[in-house]
Amino acid sequence: MALHPLAQYLDQVPDFPKPGILFSDISPLLKSHFNETIDALSELFSEEEWASIDCLAGIESRGFIFAAGLAYKHNKGFIKVRKPGKLPNVCASIAYGLEYGSDALEMQKGDGSRVVLLDDLIATGGSMGAAAELCEKVGYEVAGMACVVDLVALNQFRYKDMPVRSVIQLE
Ligand code: PRP
Ligand code: MG
Repeated sequence: MALHPLAQYLDQVPDFPKPGILFSDISPLLKSHFNETIDALSELFSEEEWASIDCLAGIESRGFIFAAGLAYKHNKGFIKVRKPGKLPNVCASIAYGLEYGSDALEMQKGDGSRVVLLDDLIATGGSMGAAAELCEKVGYEVAGMACVVDLVALNQFRYKDMPVRSVIQLE
């Protein structure tokens, strides 16, 4: 498959944040093509799907950027999936493994809304998988998952046979 034109605005940084990690920096993309990136994420779902979605859930921190942009574009609510110790009235938390290290996520209580989970990038799928499980644990229905960049070589992740949709697939 041809590389998406927005891929040219990613900055590939070797050995960050640790030796051996090739970091896909979305900073240039955000600075010069933010609207186009939100539109490209939006097009991953049909009009019919958008009509059935209640909220966008962003995974702290880079997922917030895209979930908020899509929430505004589609006039939907925004939900935070946060790192530990940041949210009051936490309903549940979940620990997970990262491409480099480990962490945990927390959410407030849900209300049965249908949510689409957003992140900037999927590597091992640890963050997205944990966030999807946590959404259901606190009382949301996961209607979809999407990210800007899919590191195909690392991404082994499926959630209940649901794929993570992505704008840019990096082999
Ligand atoms: C990065 C990235 C994704 C996650 C992808 O977040 O933004 O959320 O790792 O890796 P995975 O698929 O292996 O879980 P990170 O927590 O490093 O930092 P951030 O707060 O800048 O988003
Ligand atoms: Mg992140």
